[in-house]
Amino acid sequence: MSAALPPTHDAEAVAVAAERRWALIVAAIIAVLVLMMVVTGLHWAAMPPSRVETVDINTLHLKGEFVESNLGTAVDDDGKVTVRLIAQQYSFQPQCIVVPADTPVTFRGTATDAIHGFIVGRTNANTMLIPGFVATFTTSFRTTGEQLMPCHEYCGTGHEAMWARVQVLPREEFLARAQPGERMSCVPR
Ligand code: CUA
Repeated sequence: MSAALPPTHDAEAVAVAAERRWALIVAAIIAVLVLMMVVTGLHWAAMPPSRVETVDINTLHLKGEFVESNLGTAVDDDGKVTVRLIAQQYSFQPQCIVVPADTPVTFRGTATDAIHGFIVGRTNANTMLIPGFVATFTTSFRTTGEQLMPCHEYCGTGHEAMWARVQVLPREEFLARAQPGERMSCVPR
């Protein structure tokens, strides 16, 4: 009987060592995951979405890209469609946006006072608008018709009443309406 003791003892020692090894490996995996969460969390806390493009909110209405006459939908000479908009408590400008269907549309927007944001209906057009930064993304709309575009960042007491509309027109109809150098919106000026 006593001859069987040492092997039993060895087996236990081997099992304990193996378990300790696995515990260390699992602890290392958890440590790497937590480190990844901390690093990406801090990184994105310090970065605005998309990329860093700044704009001076004090001169936003006076000069540059976001003056009132330049807001709305523009068709460039090379056929690129760009929507420029600003958000403020508690409205978007323009209040109604016209875009062509099945065409890449680039949105460029910023906010004047607080953090706002918008999503267009059930599409993937979705961004935050942060004072001092230009948010931009390019998307295309597959279905024609009107979509609601609510503000989706809580921006104050009027937040839930802050929304605009997006009219998606068939491409030909949109291009027939577009005038070179002009800014379009579905609200008559
Ligand atoms: Cu603007 Cu909520």
